[in-house]
Amino acid sequence: MTVQALKSAIEDLHKEALKRLIRALKDDPAAGVRLREALGDQVVYGVLLFHGLVREPLEVRVQKALDEVRPFMHQHGGDVELVAVRPLDTVEVRLVGACHGCPASSQTLTEGVERAIRQHCPEILHIHQVSKGRTETKPAGNGVATLHFVSPFALRTRDGWIDAARLDEIPDGSILERELKGRSLLLYRQGTQVSCMDNRCAHLGMALEMGEIVDGVITCPYHGFKYLLETGECLTAPEVQLTVHAVKVMGERVQVRLEE
Ligand code: FES
Repeated sequence: MTVQALKSAIEDLHKEALKRLIRALKDDPAAGVRLREALGDQVVYGVLLFHGLVREPLEVRVQKALDEVRPFMHQHGGDVELVAVRPLDTVEVRLVGACHGCPASSQTLTEGVERAIRQHCPEILHIHQVSKGRTETKPAGNGVATLHFVSPFALRTRDGWIDAARLDEIPDGSILERELKGRSLLLYRQGTQVSCMDNRCAHLGMALEMGEIVDGVITCPYHGFKYLLETGECLTAPEVQLTVHAVKVMGERVQVRLEE
């Protein structure tokens, strides 16, 4: 065994032990509180971060998401500023430069900024676009869009959208299972907001569509893992989540773009 392989094996062992320890503590509400307090210790936090058992602070992840989309916005003379992160689930941003007041700004927000924030911070449910004198509230889902203008992100994402369903085929507050490009997907709808994810439980990969749905949470019928259908976030084991796909609602049509 090489030194590198030995090092990786030891790290894996430590990670597994820490994971089991955290799980055991989380089951006891009092111990869970102590665990959160312990995360205030930089050494404890640093070790758990190294093993991928805690996330970076929300604001750091939001900034990383915005840094990812900025180069595309800069090409068009625009930019985005982070105005505020409001725990637990809200971010306020401001589109500036050429993006401010641009008729395509709503698409820029949806296709670029929102998508990046959702990828880095699945717990964010609301993105508010703040402009001088007013705030536009935008859920972190995907709103109805009628496209008359082309945003920089539309140029980047013109390809790859697949027609998935009619909006009214998806029962409100529930799911529709669809087979697309050989993948089984779940489409979840709340009013005009639609999310899409693989129909594969992150536990053992079983299909989820027969799971019970209560208040936007689906429970895997096999071993009970719970997932937020809006974001794919796993409530049972926060270190895993469902694979989610970008969604666009164009009038009555729902389109998705599949992640790898
Ligand atoms: S396969 Fe879903 S919880 Fe086990």
